Amino acid sequence: MHPQSDTYKMSAEKVVSSNPNLDRVNLGCGPFAPPGWLNVDGSWNGWFTHHKHLRRALELVGVINASNQGADWQVSPLVHYLSKPLPFPDNSVSAIYASHVLEHLYRNQAMALLSECKRVLKPGGVLRLVVPDLHALVVEYLNSKNNGSSKSAADNLNEKLAFRPPAPRAGNGFVRFYHLWMDFHSHKWMYDSESLSSYLEGAGFHQVAQMELHKSAIPGIEEVEQPHRILDGAGICLEGKKIA
Ligand SMILES: C[S@@+](CC[C@H](N)C(=O)[O-])C[C@H]1O[C@@H](n2cnc3c(N)ncnc32)[C@H](O)[C@@H]1O
Repeated sequence: MHPQSDTYKMSAEKVVSSNPNLDRVNLGCGPFAPPGWLNVDGSWNGWFTHHKHLRRALELVGVINASNQGADWQVSPLVHYLSKPLPFPDNSVSAIYASHVLEHLYRNQAMALLSECKRVLKPGGVLRLVVPDLHALVVEYLNSKNNGSSKSAADNLNEKLAFRPPAPRAGNGFVRFYHLWMDFHSHKWMYDSESLSSYLEGAGFHQVAQMELHKSAIPGIEEVEQPHRILDGAGICLEGKKIA
C-alpha cells in the first residue's frame, strides 16, 4: 500500500463524513468539478485549491505561472492519485463517473482502478466511463489517407493519441520536474468499445453497454457530463453495473 494512503483515507473520510449525501464520485474531475459530486483529482491545480495562499506566493516568485491553464477550479477536489487504492470503504458509493481519465493511466493501473471501483460501489451501483475512441481515431486517419486529402494525417493521429507532446514541456526546472514525475497529461493506453467492455466485464461489472450522451442509470449525469467530451467522435461512453 502507498505510504501516504492513510493520509488520503483520512482526508477522504473527512470529505465523506461532512457531506453524507455525496455518494456520486467524479474521478479525475479536472477544473469542471460540479457541486453535488464527490470530485477527485490528483493534479497540483486541484491540490492548490486547498492551498490558495501558497499558490499565490509561488506565482509571485515566478515558480508557477499565474496564467496556468486549469487554475480556476470551480470546487476543491479530494486530492488522490488514481494509481492508488480508492480512499473509500467497500460498498459505499452509488455511482462513479470518469471522463477522459482512464487513458491517462497505464493499463495495469487502469485495470486496478476498475477493480477498486467495483469494490467501493454499492450493489446496484453504476460505473460510467468516457474515453477517446481508438477505433474512430484510426478510421479518421485511414479516411484522411485514402482521400489523399491530408498530408498531416499522421500528425493529427499523433496529436489525438497524445502519448507524448510534440515538444518537451516548457517552464522552469520545478515545472519540468513535476510533469516528468507525475506525467498526468499523457495518454498511456487507448480503448475502443470492445476492449473497454471486456475490461469492465473482466473487473466483474454486469450489463455493460455503450451509452449516449446524458443517457444513464446515474441520476443527474448531465450535471457532470460535458457534451464536448462525447459528441463529434470525441469519445465513447460505457456503463456497467455492480450486481454484488
Ligand atoms: C483530460 S482531464 C479530464 C477532466 C474531466 N474529467 C473532463 O472530462 O473534462 C484528465 C484529468 O485526470 C486527472 N488525472 C490524470 N491522471 C491522474 C492520476 N493518476 N491520478 C489522479 N488524477 C489524474 C488530471 O489531473 C486531469 O484533471
